[in-house]
Amino acid sequence: MKKLAGKVAIVTGSSRGIGKEIAMKLAHEGAKVVVNYSRSPEKAEAVINQIQQQGGEAIAIQADMSQVDQIQELVTTAVEQYGQLDILVSNAGIEHFRKLEEITPQDFQRVFSVNVAGQLFVTQAAARYMTSGGRIVLTSSVSARISVFYHTLYAASKAAVSAMVLNLAPELGERGITINAIAPGGTATDMAQENAKRYTHPALQSAPPDALLLSKTSLQRLAQPEEIAAAVTFLVSDDASYISGSTLAVDGGRF
Ligand SMILES: NC(=O)c1ccc[n+]([C@@H]2O[C@H](COP(=O)([O-])OP(=O)(O)OC[C@H]3O[C@@H](n4cnc5c(N)ncnc54)[C@H](OP(=O)(O)O)[C@@H]3O)[C@@H](O)[C@H]2O)c1
Repeated sequence: MKKLAGKVAIVTGSSRGIGKEIAMKLAHEGAKVVVNYSRSPEKAEAVINQIQQQGGEAIAIQADMSQVDQIQELVTTAVEQYGQLDILVSNAGIEHFRKLEEITPQDFQRVFSVNVAGQLFVTQAAARYMTSGGRIVLTSSVSARISVFYHTLYAASKAAVSAMVLNLAPELGERGITINAIAPGGTATDMAQENAKRYTHPALQSAPPDALLLSKTSLQRLAQPEEIAAAVTFLVSDDASYISGSTLAVDGGRF
């Protein structure tokens, strides 16, 4: 018997990167999966095809996680399609680097609308349909607990996620639903490809792009998205029935 047989899951931002691997893994474990994306329909379609080729079931739904009306629509369409909702993995997120002097109210709005408001309102929308045994996993980051030049907005948005799961846990716990966050370290995706060099001290920009990142990681390598997906799959399974309000670091021993 597969671990997630009979379950229905939404994974936000699952057209590529970590979200894609989470969607694939949940489907592999037997869940019917809603693959959400914002701008990459062809990539979302490719994920659906891969899941179906492996004997799984999935649909793709476009919705921008910075727009509350689209979040509601995503969740109601998923429930109309599959008749229930058991698992939400809120993975969609955007990174941001800018000096204090240069941060604008628009930057704040853009980062917090996806990374904080989006995660809160998709949780609200999904929880309405969940019954006892429901599972919610939000996405924080190692960045919430380390100093990086010009990373203030992103780090603050990811720190907010840990506070949200901590405080939503008792409220959802009354209904038998767990909520946790994962805090990935550097993971080999488009996001890391674009930004790994920015984790290096500005005076060391001539070093290899991810040199500082790796020198501060016990396992001395980036994560593969599959390794983050494995931790999420654990958190949404029955094996994690007594874990709620936690932020699980999956960061290769970042120090
Ligand atoms: N990679 C890392 O090193 C790392 C480390 C710590 C935490 N994280 C967190 O892990 C999560 C996934 O990161 P990743 O590296 O896989 O990112 P990525 O490679 O940039 O992929 C981002 C995914 O999120 C989707 N997305 C972006 N904005 C969206 C929006 N407004 N609404 C709906 N979907 C949206 C994208 O969809 P489209 O393809 O349609 O644009 C894509 O599927 C993020 O929350 C990130 O902050 C990543």
